[in-house]
Amino acid sequence: MMAYELLQYVDSELPEAYRTMSGEELDRRILEAKRKLGKDLVILGHHYQRDDVIRFADFRGDSLKLARLGAEQKDARYIVFCGVHFMAETADTLAGEHQQVILPDLRAGCSMADMADLEEVEEAWEILTERFGDTIIPVTYVNSSAAIKAFVGRHGGTTCTSSNARGVLEWAFSQKKRILFLPDQHLGRNTAYDMGIPLEEMVVWDPKSGKFEEIRGDLGAVRMILWKGHCSVHQKFTEEQIKSWRERIPDINILVHPECNFDVVQNADYSGSTEYIIKTIEAAPAGSKWAIGTEVNLVQRLANEHPDKMIVLLSSTMCPCLTMNRIDRPHLLWALDSILDGTPIHVIEVDEETKHWSKKALDRMLAIK
Ligand code: 13P
Ligand code: SF4
Repeated sequence: MMAYELLQYVDSELPEAYRTMSGEELDRRILEAKRKLGKDLVILGHHYQRDDVIRFADFRGDSLKLARLGAEQKDARYIVFCGVHFMAETADTLAGEHQQVILPDLRAGCSMADMADLEEVEEAWEILTERFGDTIIPVTYVNSSAAIKAFVGRHGGTTCTSSNARGVLEWAFSQKKRILFLPDQHLGRNTAYDMGIPLEEMVVWDPKSGKFEEIRGDLGAVRMILWKGHCSVHQKFTEEQIKSWRERIPDINILVHPECNFDVVQNADYSGSTEYIIKTIEAAPAGSKWAIGTEVNLVQRLANEHPDKMIVLLSSTMCPCLTMNRIDRPHLLWALDSILDGTPIHVIEVDEETKHWSKKALDRMLAIK
């Protein structure tokens, strides 16, 4: 289901009792439900989750860490995923037969994942393979639907996350001359450039017009075909913001996520996944100063956890991921209560055929060191 469609799914089904419950009662009942479910339950939380939700997570991580952790939790019958839809699909794909994956609010989608639609990808593949022959391998960022992961798996490709993109691209180039990178052009461009591939050997594929964009060199020499997708949260960070911070605080460090655009990443001092951002801040000396270009919940949490360092959001306007923020305590408790009642809600189930091929793509990624 696309985020747009998810938004149509009126969640108003959230029972009135949960809407009006006080914060203290929500906390108390969530802890009580966790205690009752014991080993049958594991709660996974992505770093972009709100503070009042992530504190109930048994494990927190970036998308790679959660994909691995989810696959290891064989004892838990219920995996409650505090994150977004594609992450819950990945967890279901890697989970055992006896496990159910639950997304507390079905409206928690990802607009970037929605930018690669299976029909458009299949059409593009036909045109691209006609143009370039059997020289392309598809790679999709895990921020994509299970259907796209399955497409990639079926065509010998794999998935990547922002933590392992470089290793995955190196593997993919050992298989074929060219990569079709879905759906985030920025992660694809930033990673490939970092590996020494010049912009002249990259093009953007616009699925809407069915044409190439940003052709800087000879098409025959192209190695990276970047799908025209992006994260709207990370597009809010700009070069001007970097300049402005440096003018005000010359010794500030700029640390950004590779979903930011090329100019932002090139101008930053450091760039990496959410897990990398956390580790960089943990290792930074007291008194150091940081402007971070990623989702605001994570930046705010880092600022709270490291009062000895100056930590600010790179942008002066809030940059929340609205869909990640849909997971709140009322929905979490509703989901836990539904498990206790024996009728779990919002179970994410990937069909068997899609699961088979998307698992192939994910397993290839997990095998790459
Ligand atoms: P990570 O792979 O760094 O967890 O990022 C996921 C995401 O959705 C970032 O926008
Ligand atoms: Fe998707 Fe961007 Fe939100 Fe990450 S931050 S879940 S890429 S919309």
